[in-house]
Amino acid sequence: MLKNQKLLENNFVLFYLSDLCFAFEFLQINLFSFSSLCFLPLFSIIAALQVSISLNKVELSVGESKFFICTAIGEPVRLEWYNPQGERIVPSKRMSLHTETSRSRLIIYNAIIEDAGIYRCQATDASGHTEEASVVLEIYQRLTFQDVQSPQEFRHGETAEVVCDVISSPVPVVVWYYQDKEITEEHHSRFQVLANNNLQIHQVTKADEGVYRCEASVEARGEIDFVDIAVVVNVPPVLSVFQQSFNATADYQESVTFTCITSGSPDPMVTWHRKGQQLEPSEQYIFNRLEGGRSMLTIRNIRQGDGGTYSCKATNKAGSQERELFLKVFVQPHITQLKNVTAVEGSAAMISCVAEGEPLPDISWRRASDGQTFVDGDKSHDGRFEVRGRHGKSVLTISGVRLADLGRFDCEALSRIGGHQKSMFLDIEYIPKFLTNHTIYYSWEGNPVNISCDVMSNPPATMLWRRERFTISAEGTANTRVHSAEGKSVLEVTPMSDRDFGRYNCTARNNIGVRYQEFILAQADVPSNPYSVRLSAVSQRLATVTFMKPDSHGGVPISYYLVQYKEVGSQDWRDVKSHSVQTTVVLTGLEPNTTYEVRVAAVNGKGQGEFSHTETFQTLPIREPSPPAVHGQRGMGKAYRLGLVKQDDGGMPIVEYIVKYKTDKEEQWMTKLVPGANDFAMLQPLQWNTRYEVEITARNVKGLSEPTFYQFFMPQKPDITGKSREAQKLFSSFTLKKLNIFLL
Ligand SMILES: *[C@@H]1O[C@H](CO)[C@@H](O)[C@H](O)[C@H]1NC(C)=O
Ligand SMILES: *[C@@H]1O[C@H](CO)[C@@H](O)[C@H](O)[C@H]1NC(C)=O
Ligand SMILES: *[C@@H]1O[C@H](CO)[C@@H](O)[C@H](O)[C@H]1NC(C)=O
Ligand SMILES: *[C@@H]1O[C@H](CO)[C@@H](O)[C@H](O)[C@H]1NC(C)=O
Ligand SMILES: *[C@@H]1O[C@H](CO)[C@@H](O)[C@H](O)[C@H]1NC(C)=O
Ligand SMILES: *[C@@H]1O[C@H](CO)[C@@H](O)[C@H](O)[C@H]1NC(C)=O
Repeated sequence: MLKNQKLLENNFVLFYLSDLCFAFEFLQINLFSFSSLCFLPLFSIIAALQVSISLNKVELSVGESKFFICTAIGEPVRLEWYNPQGERIVPSKRMSLHTETSRSRLIIYNAIIEDAGIYRCQATDASGHTEEASVVLEIYQRLTFQDVQSPQEFRHGETAEVVCDVISSPVPVVVWYYQDKEITEEHHSRFQVLANNNLQIHQVTKADEGVYRCEASVEARGEIDFVDIAVVVNVPPVLSVFQQSFNATADYQESVTFTCITSGSPDPMVTWHRKGQQLEPSEQYIFNRLEGGRSMLTIRNIRQGDGGTYSCKATNKAGSQERELFLKVFVQPHITQLKNVTAVEGSAAMISCVAEGEPLPDISWRRASDGQTFVDGDKSHDGRFEVRGRHGKSVLTISGVRLADLGRFDCEALSRIGGHQKSMFLDIEYIPKFLTNHTIYYSWEGNPVNISCDVMSNPPATMLWRRERFTISAEGTANTRVHSAEGKSVLEVTPMSDRDFGRYNCTARNNIGVRYQEFILAQADVPSNPYSVRLSAVSQRLATVTFMKPDSHGGVPISYYLVQYKEVGSQDWRDVKSHSVQTTVVLTGLEPNTTYEVRVAAVNGKGQGEFSHTETFQTLPIREPSPPAVHGQRGMGKAYRLGLVKQDDGGMPIVEYIVKYKTDKEEQWMTKLVPGANDFAMLQPLQWNTRYEVEITARNVKGLSEPTFYQFFMPQKPDITGKSREAQKLFSSFTLKKLNIFLL
């Protein structure tokens, strides 16, 4: 309908141009105005005025400019133009007027469709008579492609409308070509030329890309033109990844490389993101792009904070797509906090160990003293040790801390990927403890004594000596001196009078507390008497005295024992001191067949104590010696050496040994006399291969001992031929050497 009406209007303009009067009769429109126009020339003949226009029929394409000159003959006083609407034309931008007396020029610039119609030029003379001429202006639209874009871009899959905005009057006929073929709907089911001349492509694909020609023609004017439009189909990015999750260990200079594969048209741009921020290339982030649409992000020097979600985003005109990648960062366990702890004995100690790591490590404790381990939730048998932990922190609580708890504790953090161990020391502070029970000291006037106060404490204690309410200064006094060392203070007292004996107070103080210990300096006494004096091994000249040590040593150690003895009836005691504090003393140089008295006293620094009761004993009278002990020894060659060991000599020296010997076959004894001072007898010459019998007797002034019997065997005479001769040679050379040594 609309199209027809437009056609009608255009036709109207067109026909106007060719035959105006016929046109208005034929169309029967605007009957009144056009009828007057038709009859105009008829009246002009009558008037003196004559008006003419340079042109009377003009075709003008839209945008063109034209001018018309109106000339009047006669004596016009006014020349005026009227537009198709019958309005007088006043100069405007697009219509200018140059009017002289009998001439007027109308210029129409950049004609538009609406300018079409009949323009009249009217001349008026002085008497008010008017004459006019007219020009018919017909305006048409040439084929015009209005701002047709090329290329035109579409998104894959959408319904594309390739725009070809072409105008003309009358309306053009538009035909589309693709790959030199006309697009017809029967051949191209997805293609459709729309009423507005645009080409619609359903579900456009990459394959539809190319140059499309939009050709328009106006048959009436034989006008034809085309425009080539490049159609571009954009494909939104498609992203894929080979691997989505990555593992790495922190702080080992490790790197990971994420790869995203993209397709799409145009080639998508790939950006990398993390926590909503686009990543920029840096020391740590390295970007790479390879052919095949592979984009890579390498994360270097991975640290714990690098774990988490990353994404790659591909973007092009047609859209964007994003994929997430995940980096799991493992972190070796690391103990970040473990401190030495100092606790006060009896209080509670809390030791905490904090560890980091991914995965979070489990924490365990080990007591170095006995190797016992504790883990979370553990409680020791006695309930004093307890471990509680969570989230990488473990607290070992020791209640009622004891000195024995002192020492090293190891904290170990362990996870699937490794372990870390650290140690701490539990130090225990406590009130000074006195180490010694020795609190009574003995001395005597003039004898210095060291009273030692030994203390164990942590932290170290300061020590002071007090006497009643007075502190003994570190410099000491006339008869006291203080010797201090770590954990020890020695008070050296030299008692001068009774007043110096008594109680002394040792005070030890540290920041935990103060303790004191009392010491007593007592007057030493002499020892009490030894008792149970006994005699043993009494012989002619010797006797052994044994005794029991006294019940009391008087407060100070016994120095030695004094043993006194004398012959009964004599007044002079002879003294023998014990060897140190041995309770056995041997008396020597006694007279045989004599009665002695003996007594013992103990001596200490203070002096000599009481004597024991007196014991008597009698030495043996002189008698014959005991038989000697004999031990044989082969001599050299035909000799035999007999060793002699003196036994009891009976109180007088052995004068001689009488050695009698014979073969077992003989009756006759041979006798050899050996001086009593000798310790052997040499028997020679003897016979080979013979048994001998020996009888030995010792003799002192008193008489003969019982004999000692002895037997020995003289071997075969040695074979001096062959090997034995060799041996003899060696032997002789050996003796020779020995001789040499002697000579030297
Ligand atoms: C990463 O570590 C986890 C846990 O150890 C494991 O299950 C997974 O397979 C690992 N992934 C890769 C890509 O190695
Ligand atoms: C903890 O105590 C130990 C032993 O006393 C010592 O060697 C170590 O230096 C101490 N550590 C710290 C951190 O004080
Ligand atoms: C001190 O004496 C008590 C009992 O008299 C004893 O149990 C303790 O072991 C002694 N201490 C020392 C250090 O001698
Ligand atoms: C006491 O001890 C001090 C220091 O150890 C020492 O010099 C002094 O000789 C001692 N005195 C006695 C009587 O043992
Ligand atoms: C030792 O000191 C304690 C505490 O100060 C006190 O009770 C005691 O009497 C003192 N002893 C002597 C002998 O000074
Ligand atoms: C021992 O002495 C007593 C008298 O002192 C004497 O009678 C006795 O004969 C003496 N014995 C010997 C063996 O000398």
